[in-house]
Amino acid sequence: MSTGGSATVRAFAPGRVNLIGDHTDYTGGWCLPIALPWGTTVEGTPGGDRVRVSSGLDDTTTDLPIDRAPSTPVQGWARHVAAVIAEVSPAQGFTGRISTTLPIGAGLSSSAALQIALALALGFDGPPLELARLAQRAEHRAVGVPCGIMDQLASVSGRHGHALLIDCTSLEVLAVPVPDDAEICIVDTGQSRALAGSAYAERRAACEAAAEHVGPLRDASLDDVEALSDPTLRRRARHVVSENRRVMTAAKALRRGDLATVGEAMFASHRSLRDDFEVSTPVLDEVVDALAATPGVYGARLTGAGFGGCVVALCEPGALPAAAAVTPSRGAFRTPAAGPSEPGTRPR
Ligand code: GLA
Repeated sequence: MSTGGSATVRAFAPGRVNLIGDHTDYTGGWCLPIALPWGTTVEGTPGGDRVRVSSGLDDTTTDLPIDRAPSTPVQGWARHVAAVIAEVSPAQGFTGRISTTLPIGAGLSSSAALQIALALALGFDGPPLELARLAQRAEHRAVGVPCGIMDQLASVSGRHGHALLIDCTSLEVLAVPVPDDAEICIVDTGQSRALAGSAYAERRAACEAAAEHVGPLRDASLDDVEALSDPTLRRRARHVVSENRRVMTAAKALRRGDLATVGEAMFASHRSLRDDFEVSTPVLDEVVDALAATPGVYGARLTGAGFGGCVVALCEPGALPAAAAVTPSRGAFRTPAAGPSEPGTRPR
């Protein structure tokens, strides 16, 4: 399908990889992701009263009206398009094309990137935080998984050369420089995350149940958590409370260039996600164990929701020649398609 011949708008949103702080965002804790150099581009021309977008991934086209809910259930990636239309309520339609450099469903926030790029292409014009919240609502609407806001905030707030310390209560984002002698690598296990949705909702519910006993997990102490009588709730809450501490330790250590301490926190985070939060898999554990035995690797852990997907490692440059090294990159932006792609228009 054509993009209307001469695309006039291009919007890009990056995926993210989380260095540390998983399953902390939806209880108002802290996390430390980076925006990836990989992301999703939506290019096309506004106009009309339908959104028609084709995807380079599977050569399918989604064609939906802007002003009423689709009459048949929407499946596949079109669910994200329908959800974004509902959240943005665009003044006019759009004809264009979606392409991505992100692996899909690998735990690198491909759906947040799609939703944010599409919202920008459909004319969203507001502050980054509002865009992140809109995309979070679109994710809830599209797939029914009660995700937190880390992925969306990382995608809109990305900064070249910096990790993003996100306070998921105040939603403040503090940029923490990543030292030049640190390399961030991603190992994609290729393991499907098919069960992630229901298990994710179950983990979130357990955290909320624990908080009913000990108060907000962000403020709870490890002693508070140890007093929980239900062993499952105790383990879930122990992960969250200890993970928040590890995020703080890692962010401070990263700022002073102490990569060994960041790495230790990452390994400890993986053990906690494996043993207390129980979201790892034997494949993820095997990759992390192999990385722990590799010279030049400071730390490694599963990243994102778990149940498959990717491992992130912090290492000396060149330590993992077979893995993908990524640099912390800029956040989402929209530009005229024919214009320069830098610096672009960031959401206000
Ligand atoms: C998914 C969710 C995020 C976050 C992570 C786990 O990526 O979308 O909100 O909860 O899992 O840290």
